[in-house]
Amino acid sequence: MTRAFPDTVVEPYRARYRLDQGRAERPMPRAELLGRLGPVEALVSTGADRIDAALLDAAPRLRVVANFGVGYDSVDVAAATSRGVWVTNTPGVLTESTADVALLLLLMSLRRAGEAFEHVRHGRWRRADPAAFWGDDPAGLTLGILGMGAIGQALARRVQPLGMSVIYHNRHPVAPETPGDPPARWVSFAELLERADVLSVHVPLSKATHHLIGEAELARMREGVVVVNTSRGAVIDEPALVAGLESGHVAAVGLDVFEHEPAVPQALRTHPRAVCLPHIGSATTRTRHAMMRLALDNAVAVIEGRRPQTPVNEPRPRATG
Ligand code: DGY
Repeated sequence: MTRAFPDTVVEPYRARYRLDQGRAERPMPRAELLGRLGPVEALVSTGADRIDAALLDAAPRLRVVANFGVGYDSVDVAAATSRGVWVTNTPGVLTESTADVALLLLLMSLRRAGEAFEHVRHGRWRRADPAAFWGDDPAGLTLGILGMGAIGQALARRVQPLGMSVIYHNRHPVAPETPGDPPARWVSFAELLERADVLSVHVPLSKATHHLIGEAELARMREGVVVVNTSRGAVIDEPALVAGLESGHVAAVGLDVFEHEPAVPQALRTHPRAVCLPHIGSATTRTRHAMMRLALDNAVAVIEGRRPQTPVNEPRPRATG
């Protein structure tokens, strides 16, 4: 385990397996990780660890990489598959808490809450000003969801009582996950860009989605669009987003993820219309514990010769003997 999990979570596993845990407060340096991999059969990794071919080759006994997180862009899945190593992730358990953060960022951005919060925090609020901090009502606005997986659908459910209409783009139209889900209309990528008042990004990061939202796409969006991202920073070309924000074409951004975490460009950190969070989408006690248990259960399943609960690959059978 590249990061230590709380004792309450690991205790049942410790009784059955030898656990080698990193530190809770910081990622394990790569050299240290490589040095500790020799006897490891199951690796519980996080998005901060680069699991590539070189690392897999340093782990001759490895049978599973159990990623802590639904996004597994930090893992070279093809390299794992060809080496007979399972890769698993933690979908489902974090859907609702991540959609909550997307909603939080959406509302904070529309209502200028980040800017207003700073105003009070820094003692700048001197008098009642009826003209200050006018934002926008969500009612009547169109939310465009890019990537209608579980989290996108959970966000669509959340904005219905706010009176927003929802359009989405996904490779294919999706059947609603929950019966009675609010109507959301599939549109082309171009129409999504052109019609959304608020764009919320929920696609995983891959070669195909890297910088999917760049200068040209931002230029196609409505003047005054709000951009929310709780997926992966690199889906958006960050300098292009900053330029859009600085020109006013993008009215506000709500970001939980960044292209080069933990680095956040100064222009975003200091812009009054940027609400920036340190990748806390799934950070509730209940959700993080559920993610940890799912990652550990996936690891243990493979060690015990069972199929993991949430695999992302079908590894080649390993040579025996
Ligand atoms: C995920 O689940 O991919 C998150 O980004 C991890 O915190």
